[in-house]
Amino acid sequence: MKVLKVIGNQKLTGSIRISGAKNSAVALIPATLLASGTTTLCNVPNISDIDVLTQTLKYLNVSVKRASGSMLIDTTNLKNVDIPIELSSRLRASYYFMSVLLARFKYVKMHFPGGCQIGSRPIDQTLKAFRLLGATIEENDDLFIIQAKKLKGNIIPLDMPSVGATINAMLVAVLAEGKTVIKNAAREPEIADLACMLNKMGANIEGYGTSEITIIGVSSLQGCNHDIIPDRIEAGTYTIIGALIGNYLKIDNIIPSHIKSLTDVLEEMGADIEIHSDYLIIDSQKQLKATNIKTLHYPGFPTDLQQPFVTLLTSAKGVSHVEETIYENRFMNIPYLNKMGANIQVKDTIATILGPTKLKGLEVKATDLRAGASLLVASLIAEGETIITDINHLLRGYEEIVEKLTNVGAKIEIKEI
Ligand code: EPU
Repeated sequence: MKVLKVIGNQKLTGSIRISGAKNSAVALIPATLLASGTTTLCNVPNISDIDVLTQTLKYLNVSVKRASGSMLIDTTNLKNVDIPIELSSRLRASYYFMSVLLARFKYVKMHFPGGCQIGSRPIDQTLKAFRLLGATIEENDDLFIIQAKKLKGNIIPLDMPSVGATINAMLVAVLAEGKTVIKNAAREPEIADLACMLNKMGANIEGYGTSEITIIGVSSLQGCNHDIIPDRIEAGTYTIIGALIGNYLKIDNIIPSHIKSLTDVLEEMGADIEIHSDYLIIDSQKQLKATNIKTLHYPGFPTDLQQPFVTLLTSAKGVSHVEETIYENRFMNIPYLNKMGANIQVKDTIATILGPTKLKGLEVKATDLRAGASLLVASLIAEGETIITDINHLLRGYEEIVEKLTNVGAKIEIKEI
């Protein structure tokens, strides 16, 4: 079993370069199947979720070449083969293959997608979008058979601005006949990144980045070259670490507007941050003040940074409140933080953090990706040695985590035990 061993309380100095965004890459890779020919993606993060998608592409007879951050995907010999549950259950993004296979072949058979166990995560909005675009759906024991005689544009009013449903609706609508309008669409930067790539392929999408996306379907798409945007959650995680133990730590290759909800709060708390056009510098000398946050859809405070942010709040002076509004089960890191010495109480969707408290290293478990990030932050500020188990979750989302942190002075290693 692989574990992460961290000796905490080291000051970090130097520069951390942010990788391509996981949640863009996991949508862009399936989306390449909509086009004929070759697409080249750059800034593809080297994380295990991408390995699973690569295996899935190969399963579908798609040729994939990967070389230091780039991915060449040739869809010429694409086949509509049923994706086995062993692959689809590994990550949520596997259901983007449902959309692209439906769009290309008008038929797909696939299981309910996997993903971190952070809530019930239904897919009703995706299924609603498929139906509105003309598909019929048979569901049996989490196995879906989705087919259509013809896919036709429609108005798709989403009940909530779901990232996945917005992406799935776009992926089908680009090749459907006529006009589609997605209302109450999600506005996350990863959706704009996908729309930009699809437009380069020849799609006609407008309004992305707003709550109303309009798509005029086209009959075919061609491969293109596309650079994936930097990962705002990775950038946010390292910024949080910098606010705690950074010594003028540089967080490089970022889009500052994508993490504004975090940097605004950190500035209010008294953190010392200099924001530049594509990097920031953060220093940890000042005592942070307690604050209150509530997770929201973009451009609000991201749920994916809530767990690492709770760890930061254990070092802030006073009482902080954190309300999680997106997922029912995103406080699984808290029992471990409390074991390490934090003083956090959870009632329903609200965590109350009393700080500052000193954390001490011990053995903790990464129950999901961002819980892992929360415990990683905790291990870096704790006295002594922390062992984080179940790190496969963490490795799904953070590229070269050990190398990046070691380069700036952290004492961290992956060990086989
Ligand atoms: N929801 C429904 N019905 C649906 C779709 C969503 O009730 O049909 C609910 C969900 O249960 C959840 C909320 O709406 O409570 C938000 O779900 P959304 O569909 O927006 O999330 P997602 O597409 O499943 C993506 C990211 C998540 C990130 C969320 C929110 C990917 C692969 N995943 O999930 O990332 O938390 O958007 O920003 O893009 C992570 O990276 O750790 C992660 C979980």
